[in-house]
Parts: sequence; structure tokens; C-alpha cells
Amino acid sequence: MSSTRDGVPGIREAEQAHADFLARYPTYVQTTLLDQLRKTQYRRLDDHRQIYLDYTGACLYAESQLEEHFELLRSGIFGNPHSANPTSAAMTEHVERTRRAVMKYFNALDDDYVLVFTQNASAALKLVGESYPFAPSARFLLTFDNHNSVNGIREFARAKGANVTYAPLLAPGLHCDINRIDALLGEADSGSNKLFAYPAQSNFSGVKHPLDLVRKAQAKGWDVLLDAAAFAPTNRLDLAAVRPDFASVSFYKMFGYPTGVGALLIRRPALAKLKRPWFAGGTINFASVQGQAHVLSPNEAAFEDGTLNFLSIPAVEIGLRHLESIGMDLIGERIRCLTGWLLDEFLVLRHGNGRAMVRIYGPVSTEKRGGTVTFNLYDPDGHLLDYRRIEELAGAEGISLRTGCFCNPGAGEIAEGLTMEDMQAGLSLGSDVNLLSFGRLMREQRHKSAGSIRSSIGLVTNFADVWRFLRFISRFRDQTRLTIGEVTFDIESCRIIRDGS
Ligand SMILES: Cc1ncc(COP(=O)(O)O)c(C=O)c1O
Repeated sequence: MSSTRDGVPGIREAEQAHADFLARYPTYVQTTLLDQLRKTQYRRLDDHRQIYLDYTGACLYAESQLEEHFELLRSGIFGNPHSANPTSAAMTEHVERTRRAVMKYFNALDDDYVLVFTQNASAALKLVGESYPFAPSARFLLTFDNHNSVNGIREFARAKGANVTYAPLLAPGLHCDINRIDALLGEADSGSNKLFAYPAQSNFSGVKHPLDLVRKAQAKGWDVLLDAAAFAPTNRLDLAAVRPDFASVSFYKMFGYPTGVGALLIRRPALAKLKRPWFAGGTINFASVQGQAHVLSPNEAAFEDGTLNFLSIPAVEIGLRHLESIGMDLIGERIRCLTGWLLDEFLVLRHGNGRAMVRIYGPVSTEKRGGTVTFNLYDPDGHLLDYRRIEELAGAEGISLRTGCFCNPGAGEIAEGLTMEDMQAGLSLGSDVNLLSFGRLMREQRHKSAGSIRSSIGLVTNFADVWRFLRFISRFRDQTRLTIGEVTFDIESCRIIRDGS
């Protein structure tokens, strides 16, 4: 769908676009297994005519995952694990079997790693934050590009007097500034505790940050926390090769179901450094009220507070098997083809006066990036269109996008050129400041955007999804008004001009 074609594209144009796409991305035909799965296991998407482009938010599950899990629950009798009675023992066996399956999946050898089941990636990250030996001599270095659940660790570091430093990103590609990171890693004292945190893949821009930063940082005496939440769904993470001290994941991001289960993988030498600030049911070998003392359990048990989400945990093994039956290389290739095409088409989308319609934040080619594509739209005069309105209009067409800052304020600040002065202006709004009020201030007084639109391609996205999404976006060409259903909007101010309902 290039800017040279006018009007609403018809079937012939769709066929032509498909042929162009296959000519540019011929390896797509090797991924037809996913088309078959879409028809059988994910048919609800087409039954409901939904275009799901929020895979960085959550993956979708296959019907077979539900069936297998429900069959297990239907046929078994499962009690609270970690007791000797038969129903508890049956559940313990499933939990431990799933733990082994996850370790195997990430190639985390038993001698090297322990795996802690958590509620999600955020809970995994919090365990590191609250247990890492931060002190006035310690350092916490993190990239601008991090999810807030990593940014939040700075509060634990600060509270214990540690130095907190952010390593910048390079605009417009939003890659790490490797030279700067090298310099920052070299600055710290050799004897102190030092934690370096970064995401293997950005949930904002889709950038895949270099995994060899783990070894580089470790060689300079740093412990490394690799947030793999956005990377693991479409890439193989080999922990025996990458060897981060900590890695965090949420399983619903990888295969959609179950929610409520994530993991923290801890390398054994780093495990020895962690000190839990409290104890809970399930984490201790012994506790006394009169003696006011407790002895923590060894290994992962010290970190799994209370009762695990035990009935959901076996569904993780089922999900992993589902991903393995497709193959990560095939998933990655499919995503590369569709993302490449989306980026190519975004780049050529122009208004009649030649102005670009779309501004992409992050890499504009498929090199070192995944399927997350974040952008904003502009009208023919170069005015920013309100991303919240775009999300609403997309929603009315059955297209699921996400808008805002995606819990990654640092990448957003660099992408949109927001300065410290802008941030201070926002913070001067006091305790009422939120993305809405900050966004209004930036838009109206500083002509900047505080947020953007995120489309993310994932496991069962197909050509038709991306085609229909591009059709939707191309409707903003040369428009200052747009009619959806009965309602006509001025698309810059979002004012309703005519409501025919
Ligand atoms: C890179 C990254 N880290 C951490 C998280 C937090 O995951 P959860 O909300 O499952 O705890 C997310 C969620 O979007 C993410 O994308």
C-alpha cells in the first residue's frame, strides 16, 4: 500500500500488495504452519474479525493449551503442594516438573541456576530489588530503556544510599550508547556491589539490545539483571550462553496462558549475595515466635512467598511445548517478514503534499529489532494527531493497539525529545500530574507528544492483519477530518464535527 495508490484499496490491490510483500519477503512462505494454526487454534480472531496487534502486551493462547490444561485439572485431584499427602504430592510433582521444563527451555543448567516461580516479571524484578545488597558504596546502573518494573528498583537502591545512574540511548534508533555504557561500567569501585539492568528487547521500540553486554559488565565486576519479558516471546534465550545473574519473564507474554505466573532465574553465585528482607509461609525451614528467629529455606524456596499459583503452573509446561512445536526460528522469521513490510509501508506513507504521515520511534529496518513498532501520526500540516483518538478509532474497527508510554518513560522521553525542563514543567503540576495532564501540557505549550501508538506483531499475526491495519492508517492521508460510523471528527483537535447517531 504505497502513497502512490489512491482511494480505498480493493481486492485487486490487496492481491497486488500480497504479491509485492512475497517478492520482498519470500521466506514468509516457509511459515505457513502458523497460518494453519491460526485457522484451527486461534480461529476466534477471524470469527470475531479482530486484528490483534498488542502482542507486546500479551501473547494469545491456542485452544489446545486450554484443552490440555483443563483435561489435567479435570482428571486429577490436586491439593496445596509441598506436603506428604497424596494430593499434595501429586501437585508438587507437577510444579517441580514444570520448573525442570522451564530450566531446560532456557538451557539453565541445574549447577548454574535456580528458578523462582513468581506472579509475573514485575514480581521477579522486585525480588531482585528488595534482596540485592545495595549500600552507600553500591551502584545501580540501568539504561534509559527499561520497563517501570526495572526503574522501580532504583527506589530500593536509593533508600539504601546506593548511587543510581542511567545510561542514555542514541536517538533516533533508540539503541544503547555502547561507548557510554563501557565508560560507566569502568567507573565503579572494584570491591563494591554493582548491579547493571537492561532489557534484552525493548517493550517501547522493539530494539534488541546486545546480549554480550552481560559478559562485558560481568568482566568489570558487575552483576547483571537481564529483563527478558519482551524478548522471550519471540527469541530463544540460552542462559548457558548469555549467563546473566538474573533474568525475568512473564509466561503469558510468551504463549498467552496462563496469566499469573512468571519466573526469576538466578545464577548461583548471585543467589549467595541476595538477602531477603522478610520471610513468609513457604520460605522458611524454621521460625520461632518466642525466639523471634527464622531460618530461610535454601535456594528458590526462600523466594517463593506463600502458596504458589499451583493450578496454573502446569499450563506453563504445556505452553512451552506449544512454542517448541512451532519453533522459535519459524516464529522469528514470520515476525521479521511482517515487521519489515509494516516498516517499509509506514516509511512511504505520505500526504498529497509530500509530508510524511508516520513517524517511527526506533529502528526503521528489521536489523536487531523485534515486532514492536511504536509511532505517531501527523496531519498534512505536520500537526501531531492525538494518539488516544487513534486508539479509539482503531478500536472501532476491531484493531487492538496500545497507546501511551507503555510503562517505559525513559525510551519515550528520548524518542519524543522530552527534556529535563519538560519533565520539570510536568512535575510542577504537582500530585495531580498524570499522562493526560502532562500530555496536554506538552502538546499545547511545547508542541511535543508525551505518548505514542504501539503496534506489535506476534505469534499468529498474518499478512491480512497488517494489510487491514495499513488500510486503517492510510485513511488519515490528506485528512483533517475523519468519519467513523456516524461520527465525524476533526482529527487534530479530536473535536466531533458531526454526530449522526
Ligand atoms: C520489558 C518488560 N519488562 C517487564 C514487564 C512487566 O511484566 P508484567 O506486567 O507481566 O509483570 C513488561 C510488561 O510489559 C515488559 O514489557
